[in-house]
Amino acid sequence: MKRVVGNAAQDKKSAVEGRNKKLVAQTPQKKYQSISPEIVSKNMHDESFSTAVIAWQKQHGRHALPWQNTRDAYRVWLSEIMLQQTQVTAVIPYYHRFLQTFPDVQTLAAASSEQVMSHWSGLGYYSRARNLHKCAQLVVSDHHGIFPADPLLLEQLPGIGRSTAAAIAAFSYGARAAILDGNVKRVFARVFGIDRYPGEKAVENDLWFRARALLPEQDIESGFESGIESYTQGLMDLGATLCTRNRPACERCPLAERCVAYATGRTAELPVRKPKKAIPEKYAVMLIVLDGNQVLLEQRPNHGIWGGLLSLPQISVEDVQAENAPDLAHQLQHNMLLALAPFGAIDGIESLPAITHGFTHFKLHIAPYRISLKQRHQLAGQSSQVWYAIKNLADAPLPAPVKKLLLSLC
Ligand code: ADE
Repeated sequence: MKRVVGNAAQDKKSAVEGRNKKLVAQTPQKKYQSISPEIVSKNMHDESFSTAVIAWQKQHGRHALPWQNTRDAYRVWLSEIMLQQTQVTAVIPYYHRFLQTFPDVQTLAAASSEQVMSHWSGLGYYSRARNLHKCAQLVVSDHHGIFPADPLLLEQLPGIGRSTAAAIAAFSYGARAAILDGNVKRVFARVFGIDRYPGEKAVENDLWFRARALLPEQDIESGFESGIESYTQGLMDLGATLCTRNRPACERCPLAERCVAYATGRTAELPVRKPKKAIPEKYAVMLIVLDGNQVLLEQRPNHGIWGGLLSLPQISVEDVQAENAPDLAHQLQHNMLLALAPFGAIDGIESLPAITHGFTHFKLHIAPYRISLKQRHQLAGQSSQVWYAIKNLADAPLPAPVKKLLLSLC
C-alpha cells in the first residue's frame, strides 16, 4: 500500500485555519446585520488569545516607558494623545517637558494656547495640541478635573477617538475596553488572514468585533487585575516590536502558531495595502504655430495648473482619446481654425506623437499639433498671446513638458 506522506506546511495551515474557522466563516458582513454584536463577539471569543498576549507581555513586553506604572489618567491621556501618529522615542522628551510645565489637568486648562503650542512645537499634527488644550478645559469644567472612566464618555472629548478612549480607560481605570489602533489592525489582519483593506468600513467593523471578542475575561476574584493592562500593552508592544510592517519577527511571536499570514507565507502581503485610487486623466490639444523664427505662445491664467506661465495655445475637445471618431476629428479641426483665425489661415496640420505628463493628482495627455500658416496676419490676436523668439525658448517661463517638447522640435 502506498503511504501518503503528510505535508507539514499544509498540515500547519489546516490546523491554523481550523482554529480560526469559526472566525473566518463569520467574516461576511451580511451575517452581522441580523446578529447582535454581543452574540458575534461571543462566538469569536478565544481566551487562549489574550492568555498568550498577556504571558508574552509580562516576559518580553515594554515595562519602563515613562507613562507606564501610573494610574494617573492625566498622564495616561497625555501620552496616548502624543503617541497618536508619533513614535515612542520622539514622544519621550516632549512628554517629560510637558509634564514639567503642566503637571496636572488644571494647570494645562489654565495655560494660554501659545504656551501649549510652544510645548508641542516639533511634534507635528498640531490639531492634537489644540484638542488637548480644549479637552483639558472640558475635563476641568464638566468633569471636576477627573477624566471619566467610561470609554464612551472619554470618546465625547476632543481628540479622543474610540481606540484612544479604550487605552486611557484600560490603563487608568482597568476598564475592559478594546483598542484597535494601526498596529493592532496589522496584528489582527495577519493572525486572522484578513485579505481586505482594513480601512474599509466593513472590514474595520469586523476588526472591532474581534477586538472586543478577544478581550480577556474579567477576573471576578481579583477584580481590577483582569489583565487588561498587560493585554492592551501587549497588543501595542507586539505591533510595535515584533509584528512590524516590514520583516516581522514571527519566530519570536506568541501568536505565530495561530497566525494565518505566517502559516501561509503572507506576512508581506497582509494587511492589504490601501487600494490605489485611479489617477484621473486629462487631455489637452496643444498648437505649435511656427512662423519663421518665432512660435506662438499664450499666457496662462494666474490660477490652476501652470498659473501665470507662458505655454502653447490649447484648444479643448470633448475627449481627445476618441480622436479617431470622425465627428471629433472634425470638431478638433474646426476649433483649431477658430483659435488660429486671428493669426492667419492654416496651411497644414501635422499631428505629433502624444506626450504624457504626471502631476500629483492627475495625468495630463498632451496631443501636440504642428500648424503651418499660409500667411501670418499682422494682427496681435488676443492680448494674452505673443510671438516668441525661438532662440529664447530655453529661458522662457514655460512648463517643463512644454519646454521639452518645443526644444525637441525647434
Ligand atoms: N502607542 C500608543 N499607546 C502606547 C503606549 N501606551 N505605549 C507604547 N506605545 C503606544
